[in-house]
Amino acid sequence: MTIISPSLLSCDFLNIESQLKLFDDIENIWLHLDIMDGHFVPNLTFGNPIIKMIASKTSIPLDAHFMVTNPEFYIESLKEINLYNFTIHLEASKNILEDLGNIKKYYKSCGISIKPKTPVSNLSLEVLKLVDLVLVMSVEPGFGGQSFIESSVEKIKELDLIRKKHSLNFKIQVDGGISNQNSQKVINAGADNLVAGSYVFSKGDNNIGSQIKSLT
Ligand code: DX5
Ligand code: ZN
Repeated sequence: MTIISPSLLSCDFLNIESQLKLFDDIENIWLHLDIMDGHFVPNLTFGNPIIKMIASKTSIPLDAHFMVTNPEFYIESLKEINLYNFTIHLEASKNILEDLGNIKKYYKSCGISIKPKTPVSNLSLEVLKLVDLVLVMSVEPGFGGQSFIESSVEKIKELDLIRKKHSLNFKIQVDGGISNQNSQKVINAGADNLVAGSYVFSKGDNNIGSQIKSLT
């Protein structure tokens, strides 16, 4: 079953609480939170106070994507908060096995992400055995509304092969430029979880459910 993770990066930030309600009756979704620090990526979004407020207002599993230079700070400081999936970037972590070990201690699902120019081969088997999810970035992280990078499809296939060869069961998530024009292609390549921001919100609040449905 494919899970869709609508990204709140494209929501109306002045009305986050009412925007969260739009997802209440939609099944098989996680809500994707894009945490950007202005250092790991040029853009800045929100941090712990807003994450905590969002977590207190929804029961939908939260999927937090940390585009930050200091993931260890967030891993520790959010451990009391009910985040379902916690994803950090391989390129940002100073001690990947330690960070992933801590994520596994505090959160239900542990994710590792690679940027478009980072090859799948940079993910060691040791890391792939630990994680519950691998996020393939299909745009340069930092901004919503960019075009899907086609070479991401090959990276998804490569991960799917590794997963089968070693009988691993991490989920493959893809994030960036996802629409109904490319969703089947990434699902066929092996993606189980699709993040979509601008596409989900592009037809207005009343069409969020149908936009999500059109991706699977
Ligand atoms: C980009 C973020 C994405 C972003 C996707 O750095 O990680 O989650 O919200 O937005 P779209 O779907 O518009 O590419
Ligand atoms: Zn994201």
